[in-house]
Amino acid sequence: MPHPLEQLRDNALREIGDAPDEKTLEAVRVRYLGKSGSISVWGEKMKTLSQEERPVVGKLLNETRNAVADAIEQHAEKLRSQKESEALASIDVSLPGTPSERGSLHPLTQILDRAIAIFRQMGFALADGPDIETEWHCFDALNTPPDHPARNEQDTFYLPDGRLLRTHTSTVQIRTMEAAPPPIRVIAPGAAYRRDEIDATHSAQFHQIEGLYVDENVSIADLKGALEFFFRELLGPDTAVRFRPHYFPFTEPSFETDVQSKALKGGQQWIEVAGSGMVHPGVFEEVNKARGDDAYNPKKWTGYAFGLGMDRLAMILFDIPDIRLFAQNDLRFLRQFA
Ligand code: DAH
Repeated sequence: MPHPLEQLRDNALREIGDAPDEKTLEAVRVRYLGKSGSISVWGEKMKTLSQEERPVVGKLLNETRNAVADAIEQHAEKLRSQKESEALASIDVSLPGTPSERGSLHPLTQILDRAIAIFRQMGFALADGPDIETEWHCFDALNTPPDHPARNEQDTFYLPDGRLLRTHTSTVQIRTMEAAPPPIRVIAPGAAYRRDEIDATHSAQFHQIEGLYVDENVSIADLKGALEFFFRELLGPDTAVRFRPHYFPFTEPSFETDVQSKALKGGQQWIEVAGSGMVHPGVFEEVNKARGDDAYNPKKWTGYAFGLGMDRLAMILFDIPDIRLFAQNDLRFLRQFA
């Protein structure tokens, strides 16, 4: 005659095998293995058995418990995969799929990526700063006097708390120097904002790449070499670069930088693409004051800086007639750059 435990096991295995769903299976598990389940009750019963009986029944009890637990796990797995195949069976694989369109990068992103790759070759690291800035970072630290016209409310978007939307990416020069001592070699691509009358060539938001290189013995020759290399890589080897004297508060001397290239309007014109110059000692001094040290001692360190207008460059390079197209999300426009 089989031991009652064997009988119990056979019953359990049958009930497990018959369980049509997870809920029934769980009920079976509780009935046998739960706290007051029949197998657990047998565990209690062990105490009442004689010395001779105990090891024999103990072994049988263990085997029973394991067999039941294993069977439950296996059956649960079977129910799960059954449910899955049922769900899959209800999908009609012969239906046509939903086509997903392939996206592409915005033309400004494309030219930005190319520009960043070229500057990386020259050892420039990427730097970053906030679009909402303090007046100090945007103007004072950049040697711009309080009465400078760029600070005017007609030209700059001011927030009620006195902060502003940066009017150029030159703010990142200051943030970078505040954060680390020289030498510095960074570019900072980003958006800038001005309250211009909006038309085909003016937008309230536009994009620049700022550059800053500070080291010992940096000269105008380094500036010219870097920008020449950059524009020849971007626009082709026949590209000529010209530096016209200009005025910016934060550089001395300062230049407007023009390029002439077959890639741009057939190489017929000089086109202004950047501002540049040698970092004004007054900028280093402001940074030192903010840092509370003499890390940017203008007697020891010199530097060049530049700011490239990326929208303008992209417009000329891709023959885009209106700057507003960049922000209108018109797929007929954007698809041409896919
Ligand atoms: N921040 C200037 C602008 O937005 C451009 C510029 C000029 C940046 C000269 C520079 C620089 O770094 O050296 O018009």
